[in-house]
Amino acid sequence: MSGLHLRAISHAYGRNRVLSGVSVFVAPGELVCLLGPSGCGKTTLLRIAAGLEDLQTGVVEIDGSVVADGAQKRSLPPEQRGVGLMFQDYALFPHLNVRDNVTFGLGKASGSRSAWLDDALTSMGVENYANAYPHTLSGGQQQRVALLRALAPQPRVLLLDEPFSGLDVTRRAQIRADTLQVIKQTGVATLMVTHDPEEAMFMADRILVMNEGRVIQDGRPTDLYFSPADAFVAELFGPVNRFQAKVQNGMAETPLGRFDAAHLDDGAEAMVLIRPEAIRLGAANTDPHAMPGDAPCAPAKPLPPGEKAQAAVRLEVITARPLGRSTFVMLRLDDGATLEARVPGVFLPDAGDAVSVAVNANQAHVFAATP
Ligand SMILES: Nc1ncnc2c1ncn2[C@@H]1O[C@H](COP(=O)(O)OP(=O)(O)OP(=O)(O)O)[C@@H](O)[C@H]1O
Ligand SMILES: [Mg+2]
Repeated sequence: MSGLHLRAISHAYGRNRVLSGVSVFVAPGELVCLLGPSGCGKTTLLRIAAGLEDLQTGVVEIDGSVVADGAQKRSLPPEQRGVGLMFQDYALFPHLNVRDNVTFGLGKASGSRSAWLDDALTSMGVENYANAYPHTLSGGQQQRVALLRALAPQPRVLLLDEPFSGLDVTRRAQIRADTLQVIKQTGVATLMVTHDPEEAMFMADRILVMNEGRVIQDGRPTDLYFSPADAFVAELFGPVNRFQAKVQNGMAETPLGRFDAAHLDDGAEAMVLIRPEAIRLGAANTDPHAMPGDAPCAPAKPLPPGEKAQAAVRLEVITARPLGRSTFVMLRLDDGATLEARVPGVFLPDAGDAVSVAVNANQAHVFAATP
């Protein structure tokens, strides 16, 4: 099968087991992100795919050929795998200019790639730097050159480890977008490591969430955001309000209403996670399912079709802060705990005001409580 196949990879450094039966498939033209907290084994997996780390258990397959097999102790060296690599330090050769850095791995083939090189330098906005040396380039320019060097030999598989982590936030968005475009034009199978969920959402066709050496969930960005497999995945993609509840008659009751918990046993302890943006607020005397617009305490708008809302409750506002396109509102629950809401537009009730609070039930996630 074409693309990159990592099958049941396990790995330990001495007694420290860092990967436990991880399988990953990346189709040609697909960009898959490995997302997970520091130390969960992302770089180790990438290094195993590249051949920079000896494979202990499992199989690495590229375009249908086995390039490493743990059981048979067979392994193709990195340079024979058809893999392009880019790590976060870029590792450009300081004594070579941009053009020579990019074509370094091509040998005699560099002549046949000169048209590609001119186009690629232009599409990455570094065409005026072909003769410049790495130390004269900004971090963003170095990143672009490193990416082109990885792509120059037309690899079948591209492996990127935190490729944007050294860049300042203002430049990151543009460089990410340019990088995505250049990668997508090549049709290469790309496996990219990041611990930034927003970056993974932006770049990936599919995201594999990892924790402690295992894959927790594999899905499209929207699958992970709207249907997280567990609380860990839900919390990775942004802040949540958490409620403990006991399941009764298939429902979990919270101060914001009752939520479907039919997948849990009656009497079980449940955890209900509600994203700040799943909460609708309205002035206390408006329709409970109000969606605030641009004006303070705007008239109610109905929920979009297909969305179920809980009946509204009234809560006291602690503070409301404008964030530009949205407003952050902190509310007081009856037991004194706080609830965070993020509503579109400008909605600025005063501290102490009562507002009506309703929840989009499709965005409330109910899991078994972990002890
Ligand atoms: N060469 C090594 N020798 C011993 N232990 C290692 C080695 N490389 C990594 N480890 C350990 O293996 C675990 C996984 O490391 P890895 O670099 O794969 O994590 P990561 O997910 O890439 O983390 P980060 O997001 O911080 O880069 C960590 O506990 C790390 O300390
Ligand atoms: Mg790493």
